[in-house]
Amino acid sequence: MIPVTDPRIEKYLLSLLPDDDPLLREMERIAREKGFPIIDRLVGRFISLLVRIKNPQLVVELGSGFGYSAYWFARAMNRGKVVLIDYDESNIDYARGIFEGSALAPQAEFHVGDALIVGQQYHDIDILFIDIDKYQYLDAVAAMKPHLAKDALVIADNTLWYGKVADRENDLDTMGIRAFNQQMFRDRDFFSTIIPLRDGVLVSQKIG
Ligand SMILES: C[S@@+](CC[C@H](N)C(=O)[O-])C[C@H]1O[C@@H](n2cnc3c(N)ncnc32)[C@H](O)[C@@H]1O
Repeated sequence: MIPVTDPRIEKYLLSLLPDDDPLLREMERIAREKGFPIIDRLVGRFISLLVRIKNPQLVVELGSGFGYSAYWFARAMNRGKVVLIDYDESNIDYARGIFEGSALAPQAEFHVGDALIVGQQYHDIDILFIDIDKYQYLDAVAAMKPHLAKDALVIADNTLWYGKVADRENDLDTMGIRAFNQQMFRDRDFFSTIIPLRDGVLVSQKIG
């Protein structure tokens, strides 16, 4: 594994963030306790910025876990809705509880199921967020591409995959992420970059 960011830099970046939302802190505590992977604060902040710039009407998340990333999306949005999809019912139940305990409930829709299938119910998606099993990223973007709005953003987490993409690892997930990154940079319908923040965040605009 190759560290994407020097831990000292990550610590410094985290020290800049305001300690603003107790609900986020609580979700972070639960994620730590369960060892559950979430986008975490730096990527949450980055997503908020993209939402502010894009002002989306419809955000669809593939792989919502227990709602941490969706909560970051929803709190930055001033219209429209965020769709949460996860195949683990207990995750979605927890996420529903989080949203219902906040002012953001009317902005969220919840689905238990395969994200690649459920996601296709939606059209004119302004932001597609991908955070499912890594070997599925390429299939996910292929399935969802026809469902994207003009100039939509695709945001995908873990696209540097603990540095394994640049190493000799050849497991299914690493190969899946490599293939996905290559496709997103080669496909002329997308303009893509990867921000080496935390575990690597791909941001891509649909231009074709
Ligand atoms: C990394 S976690 C998501 C974390 C979440 N985005 C966050 O940052 O708060 C990945 C989630 O994707 C779900 N998942 C993986 N593959 C899936 C699929 N094909 N359809 C639906 N859910 C999937 C898993 O159950 C897991 O909860």
